Amino acid sequence: MARASWAPGRVNLIGEHTDYSGGLVLPAAIELGVAVEIDGTAPTVSLVSLEFGPAEPFAPDGGGAQATGWARYPQAVAAELAALGRPAVGLEGTVASDLPSGAGLSSSAALEVAVALGLCAVADFELEPLELALACQRAELRAVGVPCGILDQAGSVLGRRGAAILLDCGTLELRFVPVPEEAALVVLDSGVERRLEGSGYATRRAELEHALRLVGAERSTELELADLEQLDPLSLRRLRHVVTENGRVRRFAAALEAGDLRAAGRLLSESHASLRDDYEVSTPELDELVRVAEDAGAYGARLVGGGFGGSVLALADVETAGRLGGLVVHASDGARLKTYAKT
Ligand code: GLA
Repeated sequence: MARASWAPGRVNLIGEHTDYSGGLVLPAAIELGVAVEIDGTAPTVSLVSLEFGPAEPFAPDGGGAQATGWARYPQAVAAELAALGRPAVGLEGTVASDLPSGAGLSSSAALEVAVALGLCAVADFELEPLELALACQRAELRAVGVPCGILDQAGSVLGRRGAAILLDCGTLELRFVPVPEEAALVVLDSGVERRLEGSGYATRRAELEHALRLVGAERSTELELADLEQLDPLSLRRLRHVVTENGRVRRFAAALEAGDLRAAGRLLSESHASLRDDYEVSTPELDELVRVAEDAGAYGARLVGGGFGGSVLALADVETAGRLGGLVVHASDGARLKTYAKT
């Protein structure tokens, strides 16, 4: 029997730049992702990407010289799993992806999660889904120095067909919120490649943590707008985005549950305005795409993911979605291991 691991990308319906302050997010896994076909166990981890070519083999515990290029992610995953006690079993595998990279759909998280599942499988090592997601989140930091939150990895691991995941990133409590069938989720790529490495992402996180310290809060969900009145203008803007975004996540989930797509769409557009004006992570191309989607009759639209490029998510009815072009994605099941007969 042959084995392959597979992990999806995610689309975050709402709750952007809230995860690293213990806020609320609402991602859904999508049907596109990264697969690692496991050819067998081996003394090293030896991976070939159909897209990026072969990676220099590395030790099963992720030790040794730091890999370069895309291999930084799998190597960092191996190191994080070793720290959790995964036996040092290597593998030979082929990595294939149908997820566009740099579009804000979390291709790096999908790669991390797929590799993690494969490494766990060959070593008969098991982790709870959220433990695996947290290990992959730490791997992102180790690999490329991006201090990301848990959003992308949790979305990839926890996805469920037809539903979004309402996750409190402070407590890791979650519940599933059904996405109405008549809601089309359309991803429109701005064509400006987004890489969090080297973007303003780390700066935003530092600014937000500074603002949280000023108001003496551990988690953004503890705060209300009235708590922000004494802040300097920059800290006020950053934290106001997060506090209002947490509120929008709650209201968006309620709107989905009530089948009120108009209300949900308005919240998306409000989220975009807040990301643009208060959090300052938009670009002129993303703003323009949001306008185009709204003018074409979408219920609402906003930039998705870290910003500074990448994509816009529009919520529309099926007919409008067809007019918009772009990539229509569906809330889908999360990462898994597949076993199949080798032909
Ligand atoms: C990136 C990060 C996530 C999250 C989003 C913004 O996708 O990887 O952890 O912070 O940006 O919501």
